[in-house]
Amino acid sequence: MVTAVAQRLLSQRKQVDDTLAHFSLNRDQLRVVRDKMRVELERGLRKDSHSSASVKMLPAFVFQTPDGTERGKYLALDLGGTNFRVLVVKIRSGIRKSVRMYNKIYAIPHEIMQGTGEELFDHIVHCISDFLDYMGMKNTRLPLGFTFSFPCRQTGIDKGSLVSWTKGFKATDCEDHDVVDMLRDAIKRRNEFDLDIVAVVNDTVGTMMTCAYEDSKCEIGLIAGTGSNVCYMEDMRNIETVEGDEGQMCVNTEWGGFGENGCIEDIRTKFDREVDEGSLNSGKQRFEKMTSGMYLGEIVRQILIDLTKRGLLFRGRITEPLKTRGIFETKFLSQIERFISTYTLIIALMHLQSLGSTCDDSIIVKEVCGAVSHRAAQLCGAGMAAIVEKIRENRGLEHLEITVGVDGTLYKLHPHFSRVLKDTVRDLAPKCTVSFVLSEDGSGKGAALITAVARRYCGQHRL
Ligand code: GLC
Repeated sequence: MVTAVAQRLLSQRKQVDDTLAHFSLNRDQLRVVRDKMRVELERGLRKDSHSSASVKMLPAFVFQTPDGTERGKYLALDLGGTNFRVLVVKIRSGIRKSVRMYNKIYAIPHEIMQGTGEELFDHIVHCISDFLDYMGMKNTRLPLGFTFSFPCRQTGIDKGSLVSWTKGFKATDCEDHDVVDMLRDAIKRRNEFDLDIVAVVNDTVGTMMTCAYEDSKCEIGLIAGTGSNVCYMEDMRNIETVEGDEGQMCVNTEWGGFGENGCIEDIRTKFDREVDEGSLNSGKQRFEKMTSGMYLGEIVRQILIDLTKRGLLFRGRITEPLKTRGIFETKFLSQIERFISTYTLIIALMHLQSLGSTCDDSIIVKEVCGAVSHRAAQLCGAGMAAIVEKIRENRGLEHLEITVGVDGTLYKLHPHFSRVLKDTVRDLAPKCTVSFVLSEDGSGKGAALITAVARRYCGQHRL
């Protein structure tokens, strides 16, 4: 009898271990990911391969990081997550150098995210109008920076057409349209106020600029949150899609698209494929779907369903919460991994999602979350190693010291993500010393700083 129970437990253990083994990447596999990422970065930069590259390498038309002399009052918009924000940002220079912000957060209802483009931009302008009323600023025409955290093909700092929606957005008639034009048109339709739109900015770029305002070594911006993406300062001579060879320009890599050409199929699991197939943009953003908050919980849910169907979990019973898409948010994933005692973990699972009830169940759930988030951090680390190595080689340096400005809930809330990310970069890019600095509110502050830098640059170059 005892042997039969022991055997059942051993077999259960083995089946869980075998399932999770697909998520464990060894050093050699990570090196291969780093090298493939490097190839894709180069392909995105070259003229002949740019259009078919999975990593789009979009020029951001930001040529300089801030030098501390920026000043003035700006309006900033932040669109990219579930909320939309409008901000007033006041920047002071000199000995009283500081940035002060006032903001208001507006929800974007699901039906607007996935409605028509006109509805989305009308909603945005409605929120701006409310904010200007609230601040008593309807008649002040401030310069505006628009943080639009989606891939945009820019031809200037204030021009950018949406390549494709990512994350949860799917509004119609926006792709291939200029987002600044769409915003201007919506402002005209409302006919209530005017705005001077100076810059359209990706959140990675805002994050890099915010951090660079304090630390001149910051030349990379990373977002590890709902989405996953990186930007960095690239030499103009390497960006074949833009005229000119002098100086540097920030490039929004859109590394979330890495693997769309099938180059990382060897490490994708059947769970990654299921998550992809159930998403709004199947086949797209494959790297993002393995590394970002919006999808990690979904991978966990798919694994738990599989283990339950095989009778290894929850007594083989698939409960309603487990059937619900999006039930595992980053916050919840982080909480599960943070709980040390099994008891608190069981209570949390029962209380929060009524998922698990036994001690074994909760241990397995925690292991599943750990495997998925560990792989995500390692993959981001491998990608980051490719970026810093590229910068080091660009500059012909034996050793590179560089800072990465980071934002995003996964990085900030998860108990292990940042450590695993840093360890992986250290391991895979030994000739680089990489510091990671939290960049608070890059999407607001950064947009204002970019607007200030852009105005100064245009003044200097008479643009
Ligand atoms: C998605 C977007 C990208 C953004 C990232 C983080 O990957 O495509 O533009 O930077 O999410 O928000």
